Amino acid sequence: MQGRPRPSMPSGRALRTPERLALRMSFRPATGLMTRLKRTEHPAYRHILLRGRGLAHEAVKGHCVRRLTIRRYLRSAPAPALQIGAGPIRLDGWLNSDLIAGDIHLDLERRLPLPDGCLAYVFGEHVIGTLSQRDGVALFAELHRVLRPRGVLRLTTPDLAKLIAIYRDENPMVPPGAYGGFLGELTGKSHQTACQVLNDALRLWGARHTYDEEDLTRKLEAAGFDAVERVEPDESRHAALRGLERHREGWVNQAEALCVEATRG
Ligand SMILES: C[S@@+](CC[C@H](N)C(=O)[O-])C[C@H]1O[C@@H](n2cnc3c(N)ncnc32)[C@H](O)[C@@H]1O
Repeated sequence: MQGRPRPSMPSGRALRTPERLALRMSFRPATGLMTRLKRTEHPAYRHILLRGRGLAHEAVKGHCVRRLTIRRYLRSAPAPALQIGAGPIRLDGWLNSDLIAGDIHLDLERRLPLPDGCLAYVFGEHVIGTLSQRDGVALFAELHRVLRPRGVLRLTTPDLAKLIAIYRDENPMVPPGAYGGFLGELTGKSHQTACQVLNDALRLWGARHTYDEEDLTRKLEAAGFDAVERVEPDESRHAALRGLERHREGWVNQAEALCVEATRG
């Protein structure tokens, strides 16, 4: 996408060949596949694309490799931090996970293969909305289980209230036409009406549930989180959670994103 920062990848020259191969397998195809997923509307075809690539990633970065990678990471990191649904985005010092990319294969629709209370931070951007409501609720309980006491979960996801404001032409950041143009860059589609824009915004990337602040807060509290607070994209009281959002350039996150931090008691 134009103007977006590229994922920070370690310099290829500094890497040995197997590491280079592993990086190429886990990050580059994910970038190409992400573009195809954005442009594929048929749910069955999307499912096949995602789960097919997921099987390949699981073969390389799942099972024993994942167990070993997690054990090594938890031993070496003083404040272990997990990125979920990372896609092609690699955060340095974090354990980056996804169905189709990253350091480890992690399917968020299954029990997380992590011990209780092992993580200081979890971050996920534009991923929880790709899960069904039921799987989302189960995931919040799992993330509560794997966080340490006082550990923090940061989630950034499209905000239903902001998207409806775009449809009504009441969003202070962007009118429907310009937002449609932005979506068109991702999907290759053009939009004639605000109705088309809202429908695409709610379905992009195979979204299955679009949260608003109340819905997300209630579900996180029901999962056991003590303090759930809305925060601005990029900002946090916790240094480790600042500047993480990828969609931070210009107006995009301000226009469409809901960002919360939930602390485990
Ligand atoms: C819209 S992309 C967001 C990627 C990245 N976080 C970003 O902001 O650009 C959603 C990501 O969620 C991942 N995903 C979808 N379902 C998943 C699941 N069940 N388990 C783990 N990751 C999943 C996809 O593979 C994809 O990389």
